[in-house]
Amino acid sequence: MFVDDGDTGLLIAGLRRYNLFTSVFFLGRHRALLTELVTAAGVRPGDHVLDIGCGPGKLVRALGVATGSTGAAVGVDPSAAAIDDNRRRDRTPHHRYEQGPAQRLPFGDAEFDVVTSTFVMHHIPEQHRAEALAQMWRVLRPGGRLLLADASPSPRMRRLLAPMFGGFDAVDIRRYRDQLAAIGFTELGYTQSRYQTGVLTCVKPASGAAQR
Ligand SMILES: C[S@@+](CC[C@H](N)C(=O)[O-])C[C@H]1O[C@@H](n2cnc3c(N)ncnc32)[C@H](O)[C@@H]1O
Repeated sequence: MFVDDGDTGLLIAGLRRYNLFTSVFFLGRHRALLTELVTAAGVRPGDHVLDIGCGPGKLVRALGVATGSTGAAVGVDPSAAAIDDNRRRDRTPHHRYEQGPAQRLPFGDAEFDVVTSTFVMHHIPEQHRAEALAQMWRVLRPGGRLLLADASPSPRMRRLLAPMFGGFDAVDIRRYRDQLAAIGFTELGYTQSRYQTGVLTCVKPASGAAQR
């Protein structure tokens, strides 16, 4: 399902297997989770939104519905297989897919109103995660909003998945709170979705000293 691309990250390879896995992991409620994520990200019509580590692109398409054709939904992923697949399947004019890793985003400063990245941070090599967060700050406009999410299964699900995955502490998205605050993000909030997911949101202040 994933291939270790050394310094770049753990890249998605088997898209069909991954889609099957998400159906099982979210107990058939992945669509409901996507709706919840789009709402939590605060996407509005006309927004330009970037989804980092977009994989099969389902969140990009859900974000694109919220931005409408006056906005744009862009997915970026270092996996060529994922980008090719998304470009082939999704011809929606205001949707775009680009190849690149979170630690070297191929976008200009302050290009986006909203940035999302779901189930991705633990796929980025540890030594590049701080730079990935700094890049999120860079590509967001002042006043823009960031949403990070990762697996946070219920106690029952944790017990069921333990033989396969061990613990989930390493993917707890709250571990990035302090780093985000140090970069300059404010209004940090965390919610536990009922769909086995922890959701962290924060804002790049509209004014004030940037760290970079
Ligand atoms: C578990 S999948 C998540 C896919 C999608 N975001 C979702 O919510 O279903 C992790 C994704 O992160 C991507 N990835 C791996 N290393 C990355 C990096 N350095 N920067 C950005 N994305 C990366 C993988 O290729 C894969 O598509």
